[in-house]
Amino acid sequence: MTRTGDEFVEGEACLLSDPKDREFLITLDSSKTFQFDRGTIPHGDIIGCPEGSTVRSSRGVLVVAMRPRLADHVLRMKRGAAVMYPKDAGALVTWADIAPGCVVVEAGTGSGALTLTLSRAVGPDGMIISVERREDHAKHARRLIESFAGAVPDNVDLRIGEVEEVLIGLKPDRIVLDIPEPWDCVPIAADVLSGGGGFACYLPTVPQVQQVREALSDSRSFSGSATFEILMRSWTVEGRSVRPDHRMVGHTGFLTVSRKSLREPAVGSTAQPAL
Ligand SMILES: C[S@@+](CC[C@H](N)C(=O)[O-])C[C@H]1O[C@@H](n2cnc3c(N)ncnc32)[C@H](O)[C@@H]1O
Repeated sequence: MTRTGDEFVEGEACLLSDPKDREFLITLDSSKTFQFDRGTIPHGDIIGCPEGSTVRSSRGVLVVAMRPRLADHVLRMKRGAAVMYPKDAGALVTWADIAPGCVVVEAGTGSGALTLTLSRAVGPDGMIISVERREDHAKHARRLIESFAGAVPDNVDLRIGEVEEVLIGLKPDRIVLDIPEPWDCVPIAADVLSGGGGFACYLPTVPQVQQVREALSDSRSFSGSATFEILMRSWTVEGRSVRPDHRMVGHTGFLTVSRKSLREPAVGSTAQPAL
């Protein structure tokens, strides 16, 4: 595994930042030269240097070389399907309570952006079963995951199929859906999740949110449902000009989280049904 600060090697991704904090993502190839409006830098000048090194362009401009963070990779990669934005993926990990050791069923794999985030969150003792119905998306996601992580992580199981079918017979701790019709999965999610298990979905429009919330409520198998969105506003900090940026990503999607409740009291228990 590559560690922070390791030397760059041929074939890996490298994020270059110029003195104006403009960033350029390249794949290191010793036969190539990076070109920008401040000169050129042969990739060979970067290969073999430790991460964080400063290299000089042909016009004397200093550029810093780092490995891209997962968020850099997700926002810059050539996507097939629309990705879950890092701001939303971070909140989802927190509010769906994706913890080390969790077994998560995710759909659809899409471009694999969320899969990578979930894989990190569950760690080596957890497992992400990521399901994608379209072979072309699944292939593309595998490539994007490999281009970031070097290989598909050991805790990621990429499957092709309909998530409603894949879920049958599994016992996940969490179900995370970035698909257009997550309400279709509510009955099977109610069957396969244990009490306290998490259901989460990501939807771009209000009618979709209404439909999934109705399905969760009608199933009488979930409680603690909540829907929210994340607004992230970045700032310009240049000398005395310290202010919010003029532009922002205004809308991505709404997150809905919920938890499986047990309708029947446990045998011999005096506990009341949760609903
Ligand atoms: C918006 S993309 C997911 C993006 C992904 N979360 C990411 O961050 O890269 C939605 C994907 O779900 C897939 N999909 C839709 N319904 C599905 C289902 N019932 N089972 C499996 N995959 C499904 C679509 O083919 C599409 O690739």
